[in-house]
Amino acid sequence: MGSGMSIVYDSASYDIAKDVASDLGLGDADTVGIEKTQFKDGEFKLRFSKPVLHDSAVLIMRMYPNVNDNIIELLFALKKLKDMGKRIKLVIPYLAYARQDKEFLEGEVASIYVLGDIMAHYGVEELISIDIHNSVIISRFGTKIRNLSAIGPLAKELKPLMPEDNALVLSPDEGAIDRSSAFAEELGAAYTYLKKHRDRVTGEITTDDKSIDAEGKGVVIFDDMIATGGTVINAARIARASGASKVVAVCTHALLLNGAADKLKESGVDEIISTNSISNAFAKVDVSRLISEALRNDA
Ligand code: R5P
Repeated sequence: MGSGMSIVYDSASYDIAKDVASDLGLGDADTVGIEKTQFKDGEFKLRFSKPVLHDSAVLIMRMYPNVNDNIIELLFALKKLKDMGKRIKLVIPYLAYARQDKEFLEGEVASIYVLGDIMAHYGVEELISIDIHNSVIISRFGTKIRNLSAIGPLAKELKPLMPEDNALVLSPDEGAIDRSSAFAEELGAAYTYLKKHRDRVTGEITTDDKSIDAEGKGVVIFDDMIATGGTVINAARIARASGASKVVAVCTHALLLNGAADKLKESGVDEIISTNSISNAFAKVDVSRLISEALRNDA
């Protein structure tokens, strides 16, 4: 059996793999889970639960949480697929390390490109990901990238929750201007932005104080990701100080580290909306449909 497509997935991505397979009309024999056994010394071994029937294999993996372990798992799985002689596509909904796209301080490693080189080494034909932190990496990555956007489905999810004709999209930093303005357009809302600074040594975030035209408005803070929440918290405080009647934080990738969700609420955020690129309690947009549409277009 050669034509068709096998979906291979790690245990953390079962939900996405199942929905993608169902959207594409694939059956049980076309989906292959990877079982992981961890040893006491931290090493682990992988086992594909059944044969990979088709020549084309789509490996779906969530990279977060346990990013570094998952990179090792990715290497092992790619090696196996390469040895089987498969044509490999890789789906990583949230591409970790994308923020380390250059040497910010002298001597640092631009880590994201290491991942591209590894994928190229194992013959990955294409990496499919979603709202990659900085699209500048795409042309320099060692492997072809297809960067899907969750802006449309996130805007659709948000629209009924916002006051009609009275919403303002707020980009919490200059780096998010392009995606926030695209989100505002999708929403049919006005748009503005803040200036943020990150101390590259301590990681501390500061945002320039600025009064925004938010009196009585529903403010949507839009970013690619919420990690510690510091960026959105600063923006939420400014929105509230400017008279916002409601504040919603929307992102594609919600890591929500160290109690970030509670801290966001304390800073004035009424709601958080994200995709399920990372499993979390606020994931209201399912990325499976985006992925299956991308794969269907290939067929
Ligand atoms: C960086 O510029 C990203 O777009 C996010 O703004 C940032 O990573 C969010 O991190 P945190 O939630 O820790 O402020």
